[in-house]
Amino acid sequence: MHEELAAVLALMPDESRQQAAGREFWVGHLHGQEVVAVLSRIGKVAAATTAAVLVERFGVGGIVFTGVAGGLAPGVGVGDVVVADAFLQHDLDASPIFPRWEVPLTGTSRFPTHAGLSDRLAQAAARALPGTPVHRGLVVSGDRFVATAAESQQLREDLPEALAVEMEGAAIAQVCHDYGLPFAAVRTISDRADDTAHVDFARFVQEVASRQSAAIVQALLA
Ligand code: ADE
Repeated sequence: MHEELAAVLALMPDESRQQAAGREFWVGHLHGQEVVAVLSRIGKVAAATTAAVLVERFGVGGIVFTGVAGGLAPGVGVGDVVVADAFLQHDLDASPIFPRWEVPLTGTSRFPTHAGLSDRLAQAAARALPGTPVHRGLVVSGDRFVATAAESQQLREDLPEALAVEMEGAAIAQVCHDYGLPFAAVRTISDRADDTAHVDFARFVQEVASRQSAAIVQALLA
């Protein structure tokens, strides 16, 4: 979200703007490390394009993704943090040609994140946000904002391991897998993907998420 990017840019003393694919990429340093900061945009296709440009145009050595998500698993509440161990596209279904959720021609439905980078990200989140529960596990992505209790209940039944739902992570995980690059993702829970999700989401992004991403990124690179 714009609010999250603004807080990250405030930590970069020397960022310069470069445009590609209709996006603004901010190239500079954060805690002395070379970084490129960019909005993924919303949805799987937009996020995959952004990730591919980061790799092809900017030559990044890995991608760390921050953002918000709807909580799915019973213990994952608003304000908690989820560090993804793997991603799956919950709205991908080429059955009966391929098993439900499998990405055709890859033989898998789950793309793991980089274990070492994810460990560092989880430790950074714990340092940046003391007292905040940090969960690790499966995050599911789809091109749908989940905003009814009925839909989130269906997702829980279909994918009981899923901790949270969002709209981009699985796309970036797949791009990084294709390029053989490390990927890690952290999501702050903005809502419970239920009937009040849209209200909770808007308030959370304004008041909390904007600070959260920058604090975690700062702790990761410190
Ligand atoms: N991101 C944050 N909350 C979400 C939700 N309920 N569904 C999809 N993506 C989200």
